[in-house]
Amino acid sequence: MQIDQSEFETIIHNHPQQKESLIPILQDIQAKFNYLPPVSLNMVSQTLGIPMIDIISVASFYNAFSLEPKGKHQITVCMGTACHVRGAPKILDEFERILDIEAGSTTKDKEFSLDEVACLGCCAIGPVVVIDDKYHAQSNIRNVAKIMKKLEKKDNNDE
Ligand code: FES
Repeated sequence: MQIDQSEFETIIHNHPQQKESLIPILQDIQAKFNYLPPVSLNMVSQTLGIPMIDIISVASFYNAFSLEPKGKHQITVCMGTACHVRGAPKILDEFERILDIEAGSTTKDKEFSLDEVACLGCCAIGPVVVIDDKYHAQSNIRNVAKIMKKLEKKDNNDE
């Protein structure tokens, strides 16, 4: 993906030039580019006067931020206790098997990123899988193949 650096400047200058703008700026960059390109973090560091080490700490702390390019589709499997006891590990295994990647990584074609989280806060409907911001309640291994087929079909229709 070719990145136009002036887009970073636009995002940064849409916010007050103060340290408190760090997270809103990172959120906007993440939303636009699906990750935080290193060059954008340098620009944020210089503009807001925040050391890079502090920006990297913030970016690494929050799950909403990624320092690596992410896939077109984001798949997140909840591995919190309630989802875990209802079969989340098998669901995660199935996604890993089908995508041929491990949780925390992205397929080579940059189509899918697979991650796990501790708890999504909706334990009663677990096991929960979130795909591109859509929550799938009471998931199971059989759903995994169906979900993947739907995504592929949607992508084919979009082409
Ligand atoms: S443990 Fe999965 S939503 Fe809470």
